[in-house]
Amino acid sequence: MERILINGRKPINGIINISGAKNAAVAVLPAAVACNGVCIIDNLPHIEDVTNLVTAMTSLGVKCEFTDPHTLVIDSRDITTHSIDINKMNNMRASYYFMGAMLGRFKEATVPMPGGCDLGARPIDYHLKGFQALGAKVVQEHGIVTLKAEKLTGALIYLDNPSVGATINFMIAATFAEGISTIENCAKEPHVVDTASFLKKMGARIHGAGTSTIRIIGVEQLSGGDYTIVPDPIETGTYMIAGAITQGDVTVAGIIPKHMESVTAKLREVGCIIHEGLDSIRVQGVEKMKPIELKTAYYPGFPTDLQPQMATLLCKASGSSIITENIFEHRFRYANELKRLGGFLRISGRSAVTNGYCNFTGATVTATDLRAGAALVIAGLTAKGQTLIGGVKHIDRGYERLEEKLYSLGADIRRV
Ligand code: EPU
Repeated sequence: MERILINGRKPINGIINISGAKNAAVAVLPAAVACNGVCIIDNLPHIEDVTNLVTAMTSLGVKCEFTDPHTLVIDSRDITTHSIDINKMNNMRASYYFMGAMLGRFKEATVPMPGGCDLGARPIDYHLKGFQALGAKVVQEHGIVTLKAEKLTGALIYLDNPSVGATINFMIAATFAEGISTIENCAKEPHVVDTASFLKKMGARIHGAGTSTIRIIGVEQLSGGDYTIVPDPIETGTYMIAGAITQGDVTVAGIIPKHMESVTAKLREVGCIIHEGLDSIRVQGVEKMKPIELKTAYYPGFPTDLQPQMATLLCKASGSSIITENIFEHRFRYANELKRLGGFLRISGRSAVTNGYCNFTGATVTATDLRAGAALVIAGLTAKGQTLIGGVKHIDRGYERLEEKLYSLGADIRRV
């Protein structure tokens, strides 16, 4: 079993290049299955979630070839089945995008219920209601979702919450519906915009991505082409917070600063010194950090996927901070492991309070999910002595060479 070993208390300094966005990549790859052509996807992060999707796509008869670790050529012209084998999906979340892609293009799809990080109930009812609104019959049995339609017809859906997954899935399927479809109260996250840009490049007619209303005018088919994935805002934020907690000086490069505004604002509030460049942000940590109130929200709010990392930072502030998690009911599960390292969060429902002034000390801990893993690494970087982190498979799902990148910034970190 692999683990990450950190000898903490070393400030990290330097420039780090950010990889392509995980949550854009895991939508664009299944969306490429909806294209009757050859797509070349560039700036793909080299992470387990991408590897697992490629395995699933190959099992559909899609020809996938990496021309380098970040560029994938996808030929979806000769798909042999519309059914995803449950053993090929390895319990990941983004498998749900095969529903929209295959229902759209072939009017049928059989896909296992998605897995993903255990953050509480993660229903897909909005996705299924959307497919039904377009005219699909939905059967859910034995952990498998089967979708079938004679044809898809444009429809309007309203989302009770601006769900990223439901917005993207509906957008992909509705691309093949006759007439106009509308999503009201949709997600505005950068990866929603990125997936829409990819689909548009392949021939889709999508308007309003990045706003609360998206309109899709149906087309007959999508063709192939090339596309570059946007930089990852969550990976960016993780390194920004790592720089802050070690009182280091880190520049995240090759990014879109606009996507980071909530994170930059909160780090400034804590007291960090931030310089924004055109495609980079420099973060300088400070010795005495101010406590703050943090609330997660849909984009452009503070992302839930950076809540564990930011809460870890706030444990070191000079006073009491309140963190409210508004997206997922169980996103404080990392708190127990953080406690082993000296971090303290008192959880009450959707909120957590830290008194600050936590003295992190190294211990053996286990990552319970992807971002929990990132939070433990951040804690390990500031902890006195040695930290050994298990559950590395969670981290590898979403971070490309995390320990190598941190090592290049001067952290004493390695995989054992
Ligand atoms: N929701 C429903 N019904 C649905 C869909 C969502 O009630 O049919 C609720 C969820 O329970 C949640 C909220 O709506 O309370 C938002 O969920 P959303 O659908 O936006 O989340 P998701 O698509 O399951 C994606 C990312 C997550 C990220 C969230 C929020 C992917 C593959 N996953 O999940 O990423 O936290 O959006 O931004 O894109 C991560 O990268 O660590 C991660 C968990």
